[in-house]
Amino acid sequence: MDKMSDTMGNWPNAFRTSRLEEADGEGRNPTGNRTMGDIIAARFSRRSFLQGSLAATAIAATVSPLAIATAQDARAENSGSRFDFPEVTAGIDAHHHVAEGYDADILLRWGDKIFADSPDFDPLAQTPEHQARQFGYNNDYVGYIPIDGSSEHGLLVVNHEYTNEHLMFPGVVTVANGEITVSPPDRNRVDIEMAAHGGTVIEIRKENGKWTPVLDGAQNRRITAQTPMALSGPAAGHDRLKTKADPTGRAVLGTINNCAGGVTPWGTYIMAEENIHGYFMGTLPADHPEAANYERMGIPEGTYGWGLFHDRFDLSKEPNEPNRFGWVVEVDVSDPNSVPRKRTALGRFKHEGAQSVVATSGQVVFYLGDDERFDYVYKFVTKGRFDPQDRAANMDLLDEGTLYVARFDEDGTMAWLPLTFGEGPLGPQNGFSSQADVLIETRRAADLLGATPMDRPEDVEPNETNGRVYVMLTNNTKRKPDQVDAANPRAGNAFGHIIEIAEEGEDFAATTGRWEVLLKCGDPSIADVGATFSTQTSANGWFGMPDNCAVDAEGRLWVSTDGNSPKATGRTDGVWAVDTEGDARGTSRLFFRVPVGAEMCGPLMAPDMQTMFVAVQHPGDGGEDWEGFGRPSYYEDLSTRWPDFDDAMPVRPAVVAITRQGGGRIG
Ligand code: FEO
Ligand code: CA
Ligand code: CA
Repeated sequence: MDKMSDTMGNWPNAFRTSRLEEADGEGRNPTGNRTMGDIIAARFSRRSFLQGSLAATAIAATVSPLAIATAQDARAENSGSRFDFPEVTAGIDAHHHVAEGYDADILLRWGDKIFADSPDFDPLAQTPEHQARQFGYNNDYVGYIPIDGSSEHGLLVVNHEYTNEHLMFPGVVTVANGEITVSPPDRNRVDIEMAAHGGTVIEIRKENGKWTPVLDGAQNRRITAQTPMALSGPAAGHDRLKTKADPTGRAVLGTINNCAGGVTPWGTYIMAEENIHGYFMGTLPADHPEAANYERMGIPEGTYGWGLFHDRFDLSKEPNEPNRFGWVVEVDVSDPNSVPRKRTALGRFKHEGAQSVVATSGQVVFYLGDDERFDYVYKFVTKGRFDPQDRAANMDLLDEGTLYVARFDEDGTMAWLPLTFGEGPLGPQNGFSSQADVLIETRRAADLLGATPMDRPEDVEPNETNGRVYVMLTNNTKRKPDQVDAANPRAGNAFGHIIEIAEEGEDFAATTGRWEVLLKCGDPSIADVGATFSTQTSANGWFGMPDNCAVDAEGRLWVSTDGNSPKATGRTDGVWAVDTEGDARGTSRLFFRVPVGAEMCGPLMAPDMQTMFVAVQHPGDGGEDWEGFGRPSYYEDLSTRWPDFDDAMPVRPAVVAITRQGGGRIG
């Protein structure tokens, strides 16, 4: 999700929305880690990149729509693109749209049964117990774990990032002067929200070309903000992780704000804890030693009000609880009663996701973004080696290894800097007494190493086929002209960009590499935007605010977005196919778009590339700037009732399965 406001006061005085554009203030990074760039010398562009798509603009201004379509067909034929599908027309309405020749079928909606005995969804009589047996809210990461190697039968794993009370609950909104205010929560509402967070594991099967959930699947599971979990790795058991409820510092309840994630080579499900600051409220005791640590993470923000009913979310009552969140969580999906593990070796920050790849050495490399303005890109390299013959031998690989943070240099090289206690500045001289301290305060350790502050790192995805890595940098309107550097080349970066890393020797475990900007996003027909989509990109093909991405089995890049809107870009979010090779490099085209108010999460390609799963998150959250609605959207007055379009049903986040009519490879 986009960031929650930190200008809001503590609950319950102010309405909170997750989608306030100017949230996060100036970012949380207090350092001067800026590679001050000579903008003119900053590297950008290959020959196929042109600033401002003049050709497309000129055609659009003077020629009939049919001629434009013909011109677009010609472009597609001549582009050398690795994609072949009829592009969706960008725009805004209450529905989803997929490329012609494809079906987009609703697979799982908020409230749907996860177990054969789950209660039916009744939005007017929801309870925490019901919610804990139903599909959660705001699906984000989608992963697929094959059963017996099948692309038509497997486990779908889905994160439920956060909740939108104004869309979920009747009777909580009041409207005045075109603004909506949400009432303070009661215990029942908070407990429903906690049960709507977390993740879902559910068996799914494709029959006659269509996917359905298998409700009696033996591994089906809901994980919530109350599920017992273990802390493992170097920080587990540390005093800074101990609470009244857990004097061991090793046992924690639940996971929250699980944004993107991953599936490991050994078939476990990874959930990344991202914007944890919103869940904590209250005031630390005076002169508490965690004050600076929490400040660097924006804790507390207090917008959810959970601490009104659960002491652990109130800093005055449990001052160490926030140190037990902000980790990467690993779930063994083979046993629905397994205890998920928070793997502290991968650091504590606002984890966007954790996609992994096996390096030539057999070590496993996890790419990690810390989604905040001016924060960093990381990777974790396991100490041990992946054993494809012995699943059990891999189950604790994530407890030992090296966490690195990225420094992107002006000359197009880069270094991965190890966050290792006792090396360089990471010792007692800076207040670190152990590796646990380094991990609990990962951001401060990375500050001291001189990492490069980025424009909100979201998904970071390796391309197994060529040793490259794609980094989604969603936007950073707070970057000032004197903070521009080669890797973050635009001040007031409203539309984000994508960096491509080439690891040294195509070795994902390398500690050096090269990089370049693959795309600067935004409308290429507006020269001031400075977007660098190729001239083959149509008026539908460009996008802003890259967020999630997927590299398919052929090494092709798919990008999904968060933040396109009528006002920002004249289009909704969606999935775009982006060429990264040859003359077509930098060409993008629209494959799927979401209904008004939604953001696009996923995407995920099934191993056989015959299904793409996407997650439509917070549909109907907004509509003020869309001429088809023009006012705030909330439970009683929704900008869309996607996906049911039933007056008795609220708008519902849902996972969608996209297949080609008649079967075949996607895209
Ligand atoms: Fe939850 Fe960084 O998006
Ligand atoms: Ca998002
Ligand atoms: Ca995201």
